[in-house]
Amino acid sequence: MDFPSRYGPMAMVTGASAGLGLHYAHQLAAKGMDLCLVARRLDRLEELAENLRGKYAIEVLCCAVDLTSPDAISTIQEAVGHREIGLLVANAGFGAKGAFLEADADTNAQMIQLNCVVPVLMAHAFLPPMVARGRGGMIVLASTAAYQATPFMSVYGATKVFDLHWSEGLTQELRGTGVDVLAICPGSTDTEFHAVAGGVATGLKMAKPEDVVRLSLQRLPRGGSTVHGWWNRVMSFGNRFAPRRLSAAVAARLIQDSQERA
Ligand SMILES: NC(=O)c1ccc[n+]([C@@H]2O[C@H](COP(=O)([O-])OP(=O)(O)OC[C@H]3O[C@@H](n4cnc5c(N)ncnc54)[C@H](OP(=O)(O)O)[C@@H]3O)[C@@H](O)[C@H]2O)c1
Repeated sequence: MDFPSRYGPMAMVTGASAGLGLHYAHQLAAKGMDLCLVARRLDRLEELAENLRGKYAIEVLCCAVDLTSPDAISTIQEAVGHREIGLLVANAGFGAKGAFLEADADTNAQMIQLNCVVPVLMAHAFLPPMVARGRGGMIVLASTAAYQATPFMSVYGATKVFDLHWSEGLTQELRGTGVDVLAICPGSTDTEFHAVAGGVATGLKMAKPEDVVRLSLQRLPRGGSTVHGWWNRVMSFGNRFAPRRLSAAVAARLIQDSQERA
């Protein structure tokens, strides 16, 4: 597939300063896509942009914004100007481990804002022009956390249920428009996520972020949702047949164990 002719000329990657977003930037640049990189840490974005401009003949914009701020979307739109965004990667997000009653209410509200409200606002801003052009795509970072309750990360898991169901709904709504929507559901992946969330990863082996990104770019034309990793696929499929209470109890044990190891 000629990626730029279907999803070009420019991809916007939120959360491009680290983890999965950084790998989206590298892999999309290698496919010949221009980039608009969004995150709060400008130094990291500029270093990445310089590196990519040196390797590929592409345009790279850096947009340092806190996506949870009220004027974030308009700031990004101003930076993009007349350029066509053909792919939106709604990747920026964070989680927090620990008991709900001990958590900070503002942190939880910010998490819901960043993981759920921001992708919806970004989609309102950038999908209509794609539909008008009859081509484009959006990748939303959901998670295997969307397939069962995640006690001791309960708000995070609930945000990822939102991301998964919203993306699957949009896939159907946009059928026939030429715009593809995919929710990618990684399990534990080796990024800064776990340090930010205040704990260690659940599970023994973490996925490589570059593998998660590669799979999502391959699967984007199909739309819907994709779980990364065969074991994660078995677990998320198996959850359909287990009583929800049992799945939640197993998740509680796994997450508590990982907190004790932290
Ligand atoms: N890693 C995993 O195990 C895993 C598993 C399933 C799903 N996911 C999902 O994958 C996505 C990416 O996570 P990751 O693993 O790559 O985590 P990460 O390494 O911590 O990267 C998170 C990115 O989001 C940006 N970000 C955070 N808050 C922001 C804000 N308020 N405004 C703008 N940018 C912000 C960060 O940049 P700045 O700090 O510079 O702003 C960073 O670039 C998230 O949606 C996460 O829920 C991760």
